[in-house]
Amino acid sequence: MIRFGERKKKNLMIKNQWYVIYDARKLKKGAVVGVKRLSEKLVLWRNTDNTVGCISDKCCHRGASLSQGFVKDNHIQCPFHGIEFSSNGSCQLIPANGKNANIPETFFQKAYTTQEKHGFIWIFWGNQKEQLPEIPFFDNIDVKMHYAGFENHWQMHYTRCIENQLDVLHLPFVHRTTIGKGNRTIINGPNTVMTDKGFNIYIKNELDNGQKPLKPNEMPEPLPNQQHLKFIFPNLWQNYLTKKLLIIISFTPVDEDNTLLFLAYPHQ
Ligand code: FES
Repeated sequence: MIRFGERKKKNLMIKNQWYVIYDARKLKKGAVVGVKRLSEKLVLWRNTDNTVGCISDKCCHRGASLSQGFVKDNHIQCPFHGIEFSSNGSCQLIPANGKNANIPETFFQKAYTTQEKHGFIWIFWGNQKEQLPEIPFFDNIDVKMHYAGFENHWQMHYTRCIENQLDVLHLPFVHRTTIGKGNRTIINGPNTVMTDKGFNIYIKNELDNGQKPLKPNEMPEPLPNQQHLKFIFPNLWQNYLTKKLLIIISFTPVDEDNTLLFLAYPHQ
């Protein structure tokens, strides 16, 4: 029941997109992990052929948590009565009925298409189809690059986190001793250049000597290796500092009020 003054929660996640959900290096062969992503409880596991399964964590039999289970013959085995599911969510075995028994149609788990790419495990969150779009990623990152990275939890909706990371006006104040030092409070532009996957933002901060900030259309053409921010819809961000010094963040939704940031520093 919604009480007076309370906001009714809607699922404000953007559907039919690829989302980073896990650091690929942390998912070892035979490992089973339970995570909450996009307001859903999911179980992830890695098969012996290195493929990754991702299905709903709540067993369709009696609701046990599959993430407490085991990997067996490239299936996930429920810890309660041993029912086994494959990566596509289909039930493979009901031990109590015997291996030759028919599987009732009601025994299946919601499943997600997974891919391992750029050091992350991704799922396609939305309507599953045979032909899915490519995982969108930054063109300046080679797939063979290595990553050093870590995770950070922010207690807010992922769109607010992204908004903060694209807000270039706060740097001289919130980060006055680090990335915003120098009291360069005049913000020229920002000049936003649309790309096929999102947009890039170019700025030029200056000391306030009484000049007027340049309007976006008065900004000079960006130079090839100029520092800028890149954004790819719906939740990938990059701070391009130099050709060899980059920071990437995936703002991964946990639920409406929590976001997990996967930060990565790609290098050759
Ligand atoms: S609850 Fe999963 S097998 Fe029974």
